[in-house]
Amino acid sequence: MSDEHNSKTTSAIDANKLAQGCRYVLELNWNGSYTQPAENLYPHQWLWDSCFNVIGWRHFDVERAKTELKSILRGQWSNGMIPNIVFTENSSIIGSDGSHWDSKRSPHSPENLATSGITQPPMLAEAVVKIGEKLDQVARREWYQDVYPAIRDYHLWLYRERDPHNQGLVTILHPWESGMDNSPTWIEQVHKHAKPIWIKLIETGRLDKIFNNLRRDTKFVDPQQRISSIDALIYHNIMLRQKRKNWDSESILMRPFFAVQDVMFNSILARANKHLAAIAEEIGHSLPNELEADIEKTDSAIRKMWDDDFKQYLSKNSNTEKPISTITIGNLMPLYSGSINHKRAEALAQQLYDSELFASEFPVPSVPKNSPYFEAHHYWQGPSWLNTNWLLIEGLEHYGFNKLANHIKQQSLKMVASSGPYEYFSPLDGSPAGAPNFSWTAALTIDLINR
Ligand code: GLC
Repeated sequence: MSDEHNSKTTSAIDANKLAQGCRYVLELNWNGSYTQPAENLYPHQWLWDSCFNVIGWRHFDVERAKTELKSILRGQWSNGMIPNIVFTENSSIIGSDGSHWDSKRSPHSPENLATSGITQPPMLAEAVVKIGEKLDQVARREWYQDVYPAIRDYHLWLYRERDPHNQGLVTILHPWESGMDNSPTWIEQVHKHAKPIWIKLIETGRLDKIFNNLRRDTKFVDPQQRISSIDALIYHNIMLRQKRKNWDSESILMRPFFAVQDVMFNSILARANKHLAAIAEEIGHSLPNELEADIEKTDSAIRKMWDDDFKQYLSKNSNTEKPISTITIGNLMPLYSGSINHKRAEALAQQLYDSELFASEFPVPSVPKNSPYFEAHHYWQGPSWLNTNWLLIEGLEHYGFNKLANHIKQQSLKMVASSGPYEYFSPLDGSPAGAPNFSWTAALTIDLINR
């Protein structure tokens, strides 16, 4: 990656035109109080999508950014949990009103709103601060006062209910909570621990085709790019099991089908903790003592996830406490956490120069190129995504790897400029895949142009 290459890329892109096009997509997907991730495919409000969306919106309509974040907070449960999906009332899309989650089974779910019963990576504090950067001091303090209690309660919930080992590491209970649905790390875990006999029989009898018709995603996106129907069934079954336990973390954790201390989720949490502390300080609050103590543990727990044999930060199976050695882009996210030292950050950055691993013409592939799972257009098993690129760019800049950060930025812009803001792209040739007019791709493109 030469500087010559970088400057050629920049001059080839009309940044203004690109930002305008992306803004148009956000306007198109705006439904009055939030931005739909993608028309038809994802009509409801998703937690981390909204956080990324507002990071884009803030550049030209900070009020809209605030509205979108406040809208996701409507879904907060009385125990502090913030669900990954808040369903839209009167959705015209049949079979997609959220009733299958039956969130009302939990006494903590909100009264007049259907939500999911699980969460997603805690990007909220980052989004709040990014909005804060666009406000003057008075307005920023007002904004922070307004949202601080919700975010504090969310972090308290994460530690109280999802840190069963009291290590400062949150356990996710469904692959969907990671945001990277069919990442190979999860697929391997669920094949080992969550495949009941009835699903095995369906697989052997090749009856999974029957379920294809029930799926929504493959009506809008090429089925070859998405999770297999067998794996979708396994995921659905984990969800049903949690529903039977009324979405109560303690009972689910007694015998979970899926329980992982995920490197990426916890890296995002570590960074969010720092933002939360800054928000509290600016408005003259102190964090609750128990939260202070947990926050301290998280940074060192992330450092301990480093495995000297694999030279990687490894997630752990939360039941067995065994490290999981399947590598994806998620394993690089301690860069974003800011919790690790420069030497380790360099070890992660080096992998982005290695063409067997994460170096490619259109970085950054969601799994290493030498992984048996790697497929250029297969959802979270190969494609480059703008949100994970954005997280890495933030992390690389934090540790001073500016040239590498700039390369990822330029190539990201190039992909979006040549095809439009698709859901994901081939890391090999930049060709687009998944849903067109995807909101977080548009929003983060705007942010990359304006940062
Ligand atoms: C898919 C993605 C998830 C995202 C959601 C809505 O499920 O894997 O990360 O939040 O779509 O865009």
